[in-house]
Amino acid sequence: MVKLTPPMGWNSWNTFGNNINEQLIFETADAMVKEGLPEKGYEYLVVDDCWSLRERDASDRLVADPAKFPHGMKAVADYVHSKGLKFGMYSCAGNLTCAGYPGSFEHEFIDAETFASWGVDFLKYDYCYHSPIIAGKYLYGRMGLALDNCGRDILFSACSWGADETHEWIKTTGASMWRSTGDIFDTWQSVKDLVKQQERLHPFNGVGCFNDMDMLIVGMYGKGNVGLAGCNDTQYRTHFSIWAFLGSPLMIGCDVRNMNDMTKKILTNEELIRINQDPACRQPFKLTGIWCGDDVLLYAKHLADGDLAIGLFNLSDQKCAARFNLDEVGLPHSTGRTLKMTELWTGEEATVVNSTFCKDLDAYDCAVYRAKVVERTR
Ligand code: GLA
Repeated sequence: MVKLTPPMGWNSWNTFGNNINEQLIFETADAMVKEGLPEKGYEYLVVDDCWSLRERDASDRLVADPAKFPHGMKAVADYVHSKGLKFGMYSCAGNLTCAGYPGSFEHEFIDAETFASWGVDFLKYDYCYHSPIIAGKYLYGRMGLALDNCGRDILFSACSWGADETHEWIKTTGASMWRSTGDIFDTWQSVKDLVKQQERLHPFNGVGCFNDMDMLIVGMYGKGNVGLAGCNDTQYRTHFSIWAFLGSPLMIGCDVRNMNDMTKKILTNEELIRINQDPACRQPFKLTGIWCGDDVLLYAKHLADGDLAIGLFNLSDQKCAARFNLDEVGLPHSTGRTLKMTELWTGEEATVVNSTFCKDLDAYDCAVYRAKVVERTR
């Protein structure tokens, strides 16, 4: 499977954890369609851990828990497909999954065939209980090869949390995305931690294999499996903006059957999604600006059509005046050019009159621009 832009969809883990069943998945597929999520690019519906029985069957195959999925996984896949969505499932490179269900270690080919026979389009592959002797690159390489030979186009979503220098070998395995962070929780501190874990890994993100900063917590408000203190809407908007800007897969983690208007607005911002899905998938670069502390992050990124994306992210709990100089984005005075900037949440237009751009940001807030390179008139 070759995936040219970051995968988008929904995953059951953040809100539902072990509490999953056929009814939930059917209702989620219905809700995704009702809310217009596929038109915005959200195409995969992924069932995470805890879907199987604790034992394989007599022919060594994984078995869906009949109490949760009484009609089996093929029926679930068929329903999801009937809604125009793609269907994802979960397994693990270890003997057991993280929640203690059978993993795919030494069953890679039979499991890939099973997933293919059910109509699975996406496999998230975790790293719990893995062999202490066989390195991650071999374990993921095996499953990558099994998927590429299972007779169905299945997107391989690696989930080794960046452990064992995953970035050095993940592109050898056939994975289209790889978890470059630890697990997300529904707190602001968790968002900050994951953003910081990402900094050294930006050079490894790009077309075909995407750094996955973990599923989104937008709209969880502290409820559900990874729900702790929760965040406010400003924080969710900034969280979504950073994930989109940095080119992470966008996997919704809230209950899409019950989203409020703000949650929908955040998750469906077309301009932010357009930056996330920019065909060039270029590496972002940091702007130094004027230092406002380690928690104020300023990034720019070249887009495929010659525009720049500029993201000003205030992760701190204080107001700040975010600034950068046009020199930093490649437009010193000698070029005779400046930027015409449109903020993507408010639609506000801004032209840089002298060579410094300045924007006041409230605590936790952000501003994200699409900027056109234009002739300087004064
Ligand atoms: C790990 C992964 C999570 C989730 C759980 C399921 O912690 O990182 O995203 O899949 O396992 O048990």
